[in-house]
Amino acid sequence: MSTLRIWLTQALFIFLITESIGQLVEPCGYIYPEFPVVQRGSNFTAICVLKEKCLQQYYVNASYIVWKTNHVAVPKEQVTVINRTTSSVTFTDMVLQTVQLTCNVLSFGQIEQNVYGTTVLSGFPPDIPTNLSCIVNEGKNMLCHWDPGRETYLETNYTLKSEWPTEKFADCHSKHGTSCMVSFSPIYFVNIEVWVEAENALGKVSSEAINFDPVDKVKHIPPYNLSVSNSEELSSILKLTWNNSGTLRLKSDIQYRTKDASTWIQVPLEDTESPRTSFTVQDLKPFTEYVFRIRTIKEDGKGYWSDWSEEASGITYEDRPSKPPSFWYKINPSHTQESRSARLIWKAFNNVII
Ligand SMILES: *[C@@H]1O[C@H](CO)[C@@H](O)[C@H](O)[C@H]1NC(C)=O
Ligand SMILES: *[C@@H]1O[C@H](CO)[C@@H](O)[C@H](O)[C@H]1NC(C)=O
Ligand SMILES: *[C@@H]1O[C@H](CO)[C@@H](O)[C@H](O)[C@H]1NC(C)=O
Ligand SMILES: *[C@@H]1O[C@H](CO)[C@@H](O)[C@H](O)[C@H]1NC(C)=O
Ligand SMILES: *[C@@H]1O[C@H](CO)[C@@H](O)[C@H](O)[C@H]1NC(C)=O
Ligand SMILES: *[C@@H]1O[C@H](CO)[C@@H](O)[C@H](O)[C@H]1NC(C)=O
Ligand SMILES: *[C@@H]1O[C@H](CO)[C@@H](O)[C@H](O)[C@H]1NC(C)=O
Repeated sequence: MSTLRIWLTQALFIFLITESIGQLVEPCGYIYPEFPVVQRGSNFTAICVLKEKCLQQYYVNASYIVWKTNHVAVPKEQVTVINRTTSSVTFTDMVLQTVQLTCNVLSFGQIEQNVYGTTVLSGFPPDIPTNLSCIVNEGKNMLCHWDPGRETYLETNYTLKSEWPTEKFADCHSKHGTSCMVSFSPIYFVNIEVWVEAENALGKVSSEAINFDPVDKVKHIPPYNLSVSNSEELSSILKLTWNNSGTLRLKSDIQYRTKDASTWIQVPLEDTESPRTSFTVQDLKPFTEYVFRIRTIKEDGKGYWSDWSEEASGITYEDRPSKPPSFWYKINPSHTQESRSARLIWKAFNNVII
Protein backbone atom coordinates (compact mmCIF):
# COMPACT_ATOMS: atom_id res chain seq x y z
CA MET A 1 0.00 0.00 0.00
CA SER A 2 2.68 2.48 1.06
CA THR A 3 4.74 1.62 -2.06
CA LEU A 4 1.81 2.43 -4.24
CA ARG A 5 1.38 5.77 -2.42
CA ILE A 6 5.02 6.67 -3.02
CA TRP A 7 4.57 5.65 -6.67
CA LEU A 8 1.58 7.84 -7.12
CA THR A 9 3.20 10.77 -5.35
CA GLN A 10 6.29 10.44 -7.52
CA ALA A 11 4.16 9.98 -10.58
CA LEU A 12 2.18 13.10 -9.80
CA PHE A 13 5.39 15.00 -9.21
CA ILE A 14 6.83 13.90 -12.54
CA PHE A 15 3.53 14.63 -14.22
CA LEU A 16 3.62 18.18 -12.85
CA ILE A 17 7.21 18.71 -13.96
CA THR A 18 6.40 17.33 -17.39
CA GLU A 19 3.38 19.52 -17.71
CA SER A 20 5.10 22.67 -16.53
CA ILE A 21 8.33 22.39 -18.51
CA GLY A 22 6.88 20.44 -21.37
CA GLN A 23 9.74 17.95 -21.41
CA LEU A 24 12.17 16.79 -18.77
CA VAL A 25 15.29 18.92 -18.60
CA GLU A 26 17.51 15.94 -19.26
CA PRO A 27 15.90 13.46 -21.66
CA CYS A 28 15.43 9.98 -20.33
CA GLY A 29 16.67 8.55 -23.61
CA TYR A 30 17.26 9.25 -27.29
CA ILE A 31 15.89 8.33 -30.68
CA TYR A 32 18.35 7.25 -33.38
CA PRO A 33 18.85 8.35 -36.08
CA GLU A 34 18.54 11.81 -34.62
CA PHE A 35 17.49 13.65 -37.85
CA PRO A 36 15.99 10.95 -40.01
CA VAL A 37 15.46 11.54 -43.73
CA VAL A 38 13.88 8.67 -45.59
CA GLN A 39 13.38 7.97 -49.25
CA ARG A 40 9.70 7.86 -50.17
CA GLY A 41 8.36 4.35 -50.41
CA SER A 42 11.24 2.75 -48.55
CA ASN A 43 11.30 1.09 -45.12
CA PHE A 44 12.54 2.92 -42.10
CA THR A 45 13.61 1.78 -38.66
CA ALA A 46 14.30 3.92 -35.60
CA ILE A 47 15.39 2.91 -32.11
CA CYS A 48 14.77 4.50 -28.74
CA VAL A 49 17.43 3.86 -26.10
CA LEU A 50 16.54 4.55 -22.46
CA LYS A 51 19.16 5.58 -19.95
CA GLU A 52 19.97 3.18 -17.13
CA LYS A 53 19.30 5.93 -14.61
CA CYS A 54 15.76 6.32 -15.85
CA LEU A 55 15.01 2.62 -15.80
CA GLN A 56 15.47 2.66 -12.07
CA GLN A 57 13.95 6.03 -11.38
CA TYR A 58 10.69 5.29 -13.13
CA TYR A 59 10.53 1.52 -12.76
CA VAL A 60 10.50 0.91 -16.47
CA ASN A 61 12.30 -1.05 -19.18
CA ALA A 62 12.09 -0.99 -22.96
CA SER A 63 8.85 -2.95 -22.99
CA TYR A 64 7.16 0.08 -21.42
CA ILE A 65 7.96 2.18 -24.48
CA VAL A 66 5.05 3.53 -26.49
CA TRP A 67 5.93 4.90 -29.96
CA LYS A 68 3.74 7.58 -31.47
CA THR A 69 3.52 9.19 -34.88
CA ASN A 70 1.75 12.55 -35.05
CA HIS A 71 0.34 11.84 -31.54
CA VAL A 72 -1.13 8.46 -32.46
CA ALA A 73 0.25 5.27 -30.95
CA VAL A 74 2.07 2.99 -33.38
CA PRO A 75 0.59 -0.55 -33.62
CA LYS A 76 2.47 -3.19 -31.59
CA GLU A 77 3.31 -5.22 -34.73
CA GLN A 78 5.69 -2.45 -35.82
CA VAL A 79 7.51 -2.37 -32.47
CA THR A 80 10.27 -4.71 -31.28
CA VAL A 81 11.80 -4.79 -27.79
CA ILE A 82 15.46 -5.43 -28.49
CA ASN A 83 16.75 -5.57 -24.92
CA ARG A 84 16.14 -3.97 -21.55
CA THR A 85 16.93 -0.43 -22.76
CA THR A 86 16.14 -0.44 -26.44
CA SER A 87 12.99 -0.59 -28.53
CA SER A 88 12.78 -0.32 -32.29
CA VAL A 89 9.98 0.74 -34.58
CA THR A 90 9.73 -0.02 -38.31
CA PHE A 91 7.69 1.71 -40.98
CA THR A 92 7.21 0.22 -44.39
CA ASP A 93 6.50 2.36 -47.42
CA MET A 94 7.01 5.82 -45.92
CA VAL A 95 4.81 8.23 -47.86
CA LEU A 96 4.06 11.12 -45.51
CA GLN A 97 6.22 14.16 -46.05
CA THR A 98 6.82 14.82 -42.36
CA VAL A 99 6.09 12.65 -39.35
CA GLN A 100 6.48 13.65 -35.71
CA LEU A 101 7.90 10.54 -34.11
CA THR A 102 8.02 10.31 -30.32
CA CYS A 103 9.31 7.74 -27.86
CA ASN A 104 7.25 7.63 -24.65
CA VAL A 105 7.30 5.42 -21.54
CA LEU A 106 4.60 4.43 -19.13
CA SER A 107 6.36 5.48 -15.96
CA PHE A 108 5.38 3.33 -13.00
CA GLY A 109 3.45 1.35 -15.52
CA GLN A 110 0.75 3.95 -15.94
CA ILE A 111 1.72 7.54 -16.63
CA GLU A 112 2.74 8.22 -20.17
CA GLN A 113 5.74 10.42 -20.39
CA ASN A 114 7.58 11.72 -23.39
CA VAL A 115 11.19 10.60 -23.61
CA TYR A 116 12.30 12.03 -26.92
CA GLY A 117 10.86 13.31 -30.18
CA THR A 118 12.10 13.87 -33.68
CA THR A 119 10.78 14.74 -37.11
CA VAL A 120 11.05 12.17 -39.87
CA LEU A 121 11.24 13.72 -43.33
CA SER A 122 10.68 11.79 -46.49
CA GLY A 123 11.40 12.65 -50.09
CA PHE A 124 13.59 11.78 -53.02
CA PRO A 125 17.24 12.26 -53.86
CA PRO A 126 17.65 14.95 -56.55
CA ASP A 127 17.29 13.93 -60.19
CA ILE A 128 20.12 14.82 -62.53
CA PRO A 129 19.27 18.34 -63.78
CA THR A 130 18.68 18.45 -67.55
CA ASN A 131 18.14 21.05 -70.28
CA LEU A 132 20.64 23.49 -68.83
CA SER A 133 20.84 26.67 -70.89
CA CYS A 134 22.02 30.20 -70.33
CA ILE A 135 21.15 33.70 -71.52
CA VAL A 136 23.70 36.49 -71.32
CA ASN A 137 21.79 39.70 -70.65
CA GLU A 138 24.07 42.20 -72.32
CA GLY A 139 26.05 44.22 -69.81
CA LYS A 140 24.08 42.94 -66.85
CA ASN A 141 24.20 39.27 -65.92
CA MET A 142 23.92 35.69 -67.05
CA LEU A 143 20.77 33.73 -66.32
CA CYS A 144 20.93 29.94 -66.54
CA HIS A 145 17.98 27.66 -66.14
CA TRP A 146 17.43 23.93 -66.08
CA ASP A 147 14.87 21.24 -65.51
CA PRO A 148 15.39 19.86 -61.97
CA GLY A 149 13.33 16.71 -62.61
CA ARG A 150 10.86 15.36 -60.11
CA GLU A 151 9.99 17.14 -56.89
CA THR A 152 12.26 16.04 -54.02
CA TYR A 153 10.04 17.21 -51.12
CA LEU A 154 13.25 17.97 -49.25
CA GLU A 155 15.48 20.98 -48.90
CA THR A 156 17.65 20.63 -51.99
CA ASN A 157 20.51 22.94 -52.83
CA TYR A 158 21.20 23.71 -56.48
CA THR A 159 24.53 25.26 -57.28
CA LEU A 160 25.50 26.61 -60.68
CA LYS A 161 29.20 26.20 -61.31
CA SER A 162 31.08 27.99 -64.05
CA GLU A 163 34.68 28.17 -65.10
CA TRP A 164 37.05 29.13 -67.86
CA PRO A 165 40.08 27.04 -68.71
CA THR A 166 42.10 29.28 -66.41
CA GLU A 167 39.60 30.49 -63.83
CA LYS A 168 36.74 29.29 -61.65
CA PHE A 169 33.91 31.68 -60.92
CA ALA A 170 31.95 32.07 -57.73
CA ASP A 171 29.22 29.49 -57.24
CA CYS A 172 25.70 30.63 -57.91
CA HIS A 173 23.31 29.34 -55.24
CA SER A 174 19.79 28.94 -56.50
CA LYS A 175 16.84 29.87 -54.32
CA HIS A 176 14.16 28.09 -56.31
CA GLY A 177 16.00 25.21 -57.91
CA THR A 178 15.28 25.93 -61.59
CA SER A 179 17.51 28.89 -62.40
CA CYS A 180 20.35 31.00 -61.12
CA MET A 181 21.46 34.48 -62.03
CA VAL A 182 25.19 35.14 -62.20
CA SER A 183 25.64 38.80 -61.38
CA PHE A 184 28.44 39.48 -63.86
CA SER A 185 28.27 39.62 -67.61
CA PRO A 186 30.81 37.14 -68.91
CA ILE A 187 33.50 38.11 -71.36
CA TYR A 188 32.97 37.23 -75.02
CA PHE A 189 35.13 35.09 -77.28
CA VAL A 190 36.34 32.71 -74.55
CA ASN A 191 34.47 29.47 -73.98
CA ILE A 192 32.93 29.02 -70.58
CA GLU A 193 31.89 25.72 -68.98
CA VAL A 194 28.75 25.63 -66.87
CA TRP A 195 27.01 22.88 -64.92
CA VAL A 196 24.61 22.41 -62.02
CA GLU A 197 25.05 20.40 -58.84
CA ALA A 198 22.05 19.31 -56.81
CA GLU A 199 22.31 18.04 -53.26
CA ASN A 200 19.99 17.02 -50.47
CA ALA A 201 20.09 14.67 -47.51
CA LEU A 202 19.53 11.69 -49.80
CA GLY A 203 22.12 12.36 -52.46
CA LYS A 204 24.24 14.60 -54.63
CA VAL A 205 24.25 14.71 -58.43
CA SER A 206 25.77 16.82 -61.16
CA SER A 207 24.31 17.77 -64.54
CA GLU A 208 26.23 17.43 -67.77
CA ALA A 209 28.39 20.48 -68.38
CA ILE A 210 27.60 22.80 -71.25
CA ASN A 211 30.38 24.63 -73.01
CA PHE A 212 29.80 27.81 -74.98
CA ASP A 213 31.11 31.18 -76.00
CA PRO A 214 28.99 33.73 -74.10
CA VAL A 215 28.82 35.85 -77.27
CA ASP A 216 26.54 33.21 -78.79
CA LYS A 217 24.03 33.45 -75.93
CA VAL A 218 23.58 37.19 -75.82
CA LYS A 219 20.28 38.95 -75.45
CA HIS A 220 21.00 42.54 -76.41
CA ILE A 221 19.75 45.74 -74.90
CA PRO A 222 16.90 46.79 -77.19
CA PRO A 223 17.55 49.49 -79.80
CA TYR A 224 16.98 52.94 -78.33
CA ASN A 225 16.28 56.49 -79.51
CA LEU A 226 14.08 55.21 -82.31
CA SER A 227 12.81 58.14 -84.30
CA VAL A 228 10.59 58.40 -87.36
CA SER A 229 10.71 61.09 -90.04
CA ASN A 230 8.57 61.58 -93.12
CA SER A 231 9.42 62.77 -96.61
CA GLU A 232 7.89 65.68 -98.47
CA GLU A 233 8.79 64.08 -101.75
CA LEU A 234 7.24 60.69 -101.06
CA SER A 235 4.05 60.34 -99.05
CA SER A 236 4.38 56.54 -99.04
CA ILE A 237 7.54 56.28 -96.92
CA LEU A 238 8.77 56.86 -93.38
CA LYS A 239 12.41 56.75 -92.38
CA LEU A 240 13.45 55.19 -89.08
CA THR A 241 16.71 55.85 -87.27
CA TRP A 242 17.84 54.37 -84.00
CA ASN A 243 20.86 53.43 -81.93
CA ASN A 244 22.07 49.92 -81.25
CA SER A 245 23.92 48.98 -78.09
CA GLY A 246 27.38 47.48 -78.02
CA THR A 247 29.85 46.80 -80.75
CA LEU A 248 28.62 43.50 -82.19
CA ARG A 249 27.15 43.31 -85.68
CA LEU A 250 23.38 42.99 -85.32
CA LYS A 251 20.49 42.31 -87.62
CA SER A 252 17.09 43.81 -86.97
CA ASP A 253 13.44 42.92 -86.92
CA ILE A 254 11.10 45.82 -87.67
CA GLN A 255 7.34 45.82 -87.20
CA TYR A 256 4.77 48.54 -87.72
CA ARG A 257 1.06 49.17 -87.63
CA THR A 258 -1.27 52.07 -88.18
CA LYS A 259 -2.01 53.86 -84.95
CA ASP A 260 -5.41 52.23 -84.46
CA ALA A 261 -4.56 48.73 -85.64
CA SER A 262 -3.85 45.99 -83.15
CA THR A 263 -1.83 43.64 -85.36
CA TRP A 264 1.72 44.32 -86.41
CA ILE A 265 2.97 44.19 -89.97
CA GLN A 266 6.34 42.55 -90.42
CA VAL A 267 9.11 44.06 -92.51
CA PRO A 268 10.62 41.03 -94.31
CA LEU A 269 13.58 39.86 -92.24
CA GLU A 270 15.70 39.53 -95.42
CA ASP A 271 15.50 43.32 -95.78
CA THR A 272 17.05 44.00 -92.37
CA GLU A 273 19.67 41.26 -92.29
CA SER A 274 22.66 43.55 -92.55
CA PRO A 275 23.75 45.71 -89.62
CA ARG A 276 22.13 49.14 -89.75
CA THR A 277 20.77 51.96 -87.65
CA SER A 278 18.30 53.31 -90.17
CA PHE A 279 15.64 51.90 -92.49
CA THR A 280 13.05 53.30 -94.85
CA VAL A 281 9.64 51.65 -94.74
CA GLN A 282 7.80 51.87 -98.05
CA ASP A 283 4.32 51.37 -99.48
CA LEU A 284 2.61 53.24 -96.67
CA LYS A 285 -0.63 55.19 -96.97
CA PRO A 286 -0.32 58.98 -97.18
CA PHE A 287 -1.17 61.19 -94.20
CA THR A 288 -1.46 58.22 -91.86
CA GLU A 289 0.08 57.74 -88.45
CA TYR A 290 2.21 54.62 -88.08
CA VAL A 291 3.76 53.08 -84.98
CA PHE A 292 7.11 51.23 -85.17
CA ARG A 293 9.17 48.93 -82.99
CA ILE A 294 12.50 47.21 -83.48
CA ARG A 295 14.45 44.40 -81.91
CA THR A 296 17.86 42.97 -82.66
CA ILE A 297 19.87 39.78 -82.57
CA LYS A 298 23.46 38.97 -83.49
CA GLU A 299 23.97 39.03 -87.27
CA ASP A 300 24.56 35.27 -87.43
CA GLY A 301 21.29 34.63 -85.59
CA LYS A 302 22.98 33.08 -82.52
CA GLY A 303 21.70 34.14 -79.13
CA TYR A 304 18.34 35.64 -78.33
CA TRP A 305 16.22 38.43 -79.78
CA SER A 306 16.32 41.55 -77.66
CA ASP A 307 13.12 42.83 -76.17
CA TRP A 308 11.26 45.24 -78.42
CA SER A 309 12.41 48.83 -78.42
CA GLU A 310 10.15 51.55 -77.18
CA GLU A 311 7.58 52.33 -79.82
CA ALA A 312 7.90 55.45 -81.95
CA SER A 313 5.40 56.90 -84.37
CA GLY A 314 5.35 59.16 -87.41
CA ILE A 315 2.85 60.45 -89.95
CA THR A 316 3.35 60.07 -93.67
CA TYR A 317 3.25 63.28 -95.75
CA GLU A 318 0.06 64.42 -97.41
CA ASP A 319 -0.48 63.10 -100.88
CA ARG A 320 0.25 65.59 -103.70
CA PRO A 321 -2.98 65.91 -105.76
CA SER A 322 -2.53 63.58 -108.69
CA LYS A 323 -5.33 65.32 -110.65
CA PRO A 324 -7.13 68.65 -110.21
CA PRO A 325 -10.23 68.69 -108.01
CA SER A 326 -13.45 68.44 -109.99
CA PHE A 327 -14.32 72.09 -109.24
CA TRP A 328 -13.17 74.99 -107.13
CA TYR A 329 -13.74 78.70 -106.88
CA LYS A 330 -11.72 81.85 -106.66
CA ILE A 331 -12.80 85.05 -104.84
CA ASN A 332 -11.85 88.15 -106.67
CA PRO A 333 -10.07 90.36 -104.07
CA SER A 334 -10.49 93.64 -106.01
CA HIS A 335 -14.21 93.89 -105.20
CA THR A 336 -15.72 95.45 -102.04
CA GLN A 337 -16.87 93.51 -99.00
CA GLU A 338 -20.56 93.98 -99.89
CA SER A 339 -20.43 92.64 -103.36
CA ARG A 340 -17.79 90.09 -104.00
CA SER A 341 -17.64 88.17 -107.19
CA ALA A 342 -16.58 84.59 -107.28
CA ARG A 343 -15.37 82.66 -110.25
CA LEU A 344 -16.46 79.08 -110.39
CA ILE A 345 -14.08 76.79 -112.13
CA TRP A 346 -14.75 73.19 -113.09
CA LYS A 347 -13.43 70.36 -115.07
CA ALA A 348 -15.01 69.03 -118.19
CA PHE A 349 -13.86 66.12 -120.22
CA ASN A 350 -10.13 66.56 -120.82
CA ASN A 351 -10.11 70.36 -120.77
CA VAL A 352 -10.31 72.85 -117.96
CA ILE A 353 -12.78 75.58 -118.97
CA ILE A 354 -12.49 78.95 -117.38
C1 LIG B 1 10.00 -3.26 -46.68
O1 LIG B 1 9.50 -4.17 -45.76
C2 LIG B 1 8.55 -5.06 -46.32
C3 LIG B 1 7.94 -5.89 -45.17
O2 LIG B 1 8.92 -6.28 -44.28
C4 LIG B 1 9.26 -5.92 -47.35
O3 LIG B 1 8.34 -6.83 -47.92
C5 LIG B 1 9.84 -5.01 -48.41
O4 LIG B 1 10.60 -5.78 -49.32
C6 LIG B 1 10.71 -3.97 -47.79
N1 LIG B 1 11.05 -3.01 -48.82
C7 LIG B 1 12.28 -2.58 -49.01
C8 LIG B 1 12.45 -1.58 -50.09
O5 LIG B 1 13.22 -2.94 -48.32
C1 LIG C 1 20.58 -3.00 -26.50
O1 LIG C 1 20.57 -3.05 -27.89
C2 LIG C 1 21.17 -1.90 -28.50
C3 LIG C 1 20.94 -2.00 -29.97
O2 LIG C 1 21.18 -3.27 -30.46
C4 LIG C 1 22.63 -1.88 -28.12
O3 LIG C 1 23.25 -0.75 -28.70
C5 LIG C 1 22.77 -1.79 -26.63
O4 LIG C 1 24.12 -1.89 -26.23
C6 LIG C 1 21.98 -2.92 -25.94
N1 LIG C 1 21.95 -2.66 -24.54
C7 LIG C 1 22.06 -3.61 -23.64
C8 LIG C 1 21.99 -3.18 -22.23
O5 LIG C 1 22.24 -4.75 -23.97
C1 LIG D 1 10.55 -5.45 -18.26
O1 LIG D 1 10.03 -5.51 -16.95
C2 LIG D 1 8.99 -6.48 -16.80
C3 LIG D 1 8.51 -6.41 -15.35
O2 LIG D 1 8.33 -5.10 -14.94
C4 LIG D 1 9.49 -7.84 -17.10
O3 LIG D 1 8.45 -8.75 -17.04
C5 LIG D 1 10.08 -7.85 -18.52
O4 LIG D 1 10.68 -9.08 -18.78
C6 LIG D 1 11.10 -6.76 -18.67
N1 LIG D 1 11.52 -6.73 -20.04
C7 LIG D 1 12.77 -6.65 -20.43
C8 LIG D 1 13.03 -6.61 -21.89
O5 LIG D 1 13.67 -6.59 -19.63
C1 LIG E 1 14.34 19.12 -72.36
O1 LIG E 1 14.97 18.76 -73.57
C2 LIG E 1 14.37 17.65 -74.21
C3 LIG E 1 15.21 17.29 -75.39
O2 LIG E 1 15.96 18.35 -75.84
C4 LIG E 1 12.95 18.01 -74.58
O3 LIG E 1 12.33 16.91 -75.18
C5 LIG E 1 12.19 18.40 -73.36
O4 LIG E 1 10.89 18.84 -73.71
C6 LIG E 1 12.89 19.50 -72.62
N1 LIG E 1 12.22 19.71 -71.38
C7 LIG E 1 11.93 20.93 -70.91
C8 LIG E 1 11.25 20.97 -69.62
O5 LIG E 1 12.24 21.94 -71.51
C1 LIG F 1 22.16 23.85 -48.33
O1 LIG F 1 22.94 25.01 -48.20
C2 LIG F 1 22.85 25.60 -46.93
C3 LIG F 1 23.60 26.90 -46.97
O2 LIG F 1 24.82 26.75 -47.61
C4 LIG F 1 23.40 24.63 -45.90
O3 LIG F 1 23.30 25.22 -44.63
C5 LIG F 1 22.58 23.36 -45.94
O4 LIG F 1 23.13 22.42 -45.07
C6 LIG F 1 22.59 22.78 -47.34
N1 LIG F 1 21.67 21.67 -47.39
C7 LIG F 1 21.95 20.54 -48.00
C8 LIG F 1 20.89 19.50 -47.98
O5 LIG F 1 23.03 20.35 -48.56
C1 LIG G 1 18.63 58.68 -76.40
O1 LIG G 1 18.31 57.76 -75.38
C2 LIG G 1 18.84 58.09 -74.13
C3 LIG G 1 18.55 56.95 -73.22
O2 LIG G 1 17.39 56.28 -73.56
C4 LIG G 1 18.27 59.40 -73.67
O3 LIG G 1 18.85 59.73 -72.43
C5 LIG G 1 18.56 60.46 -74.69
O4 LIG G 1 17.94 61.65 -74.33
C6 LIG G 1 18.08 60.02 -76.05
N1 LIG G 1 18.51 60.98 -77.05
C7 LIG G 1 17.67 61.44 -77.94
C8 LIG G 1 18.25 62.37 -78.90
O5 LIG G 1 16.49 61.12 -77.97
C1 LIG H 1 22.69 57.39 -82.43
O1 LIG H 1 22.34 57.38 -83.80
C2 LIG H 1 22.56 58.62 -84.46
C3 LIG H 1 21.98 58.50 -85.84
O2 LIG H 1 22.29 57.26 -86.41
C4 LIG H 1 24.05 58.92 -84.45
O3 LIG H 1 24.28 60.15 -85.08
C5 LIG H 1 24.52 58.98 -83.02
O4 LIG H 1 25.91 59.15 -82.96
C6 LIG H 1 24.18 57.71 -82.28
N1 LIG H 1 24.50 57.86 -80.88
C7 LIG H 1 25.12 56.93 -80.19
C8 LIG H 1 25.32 57.22 -78.75
O5 LIG H 1 25.50 55.89 -80.72
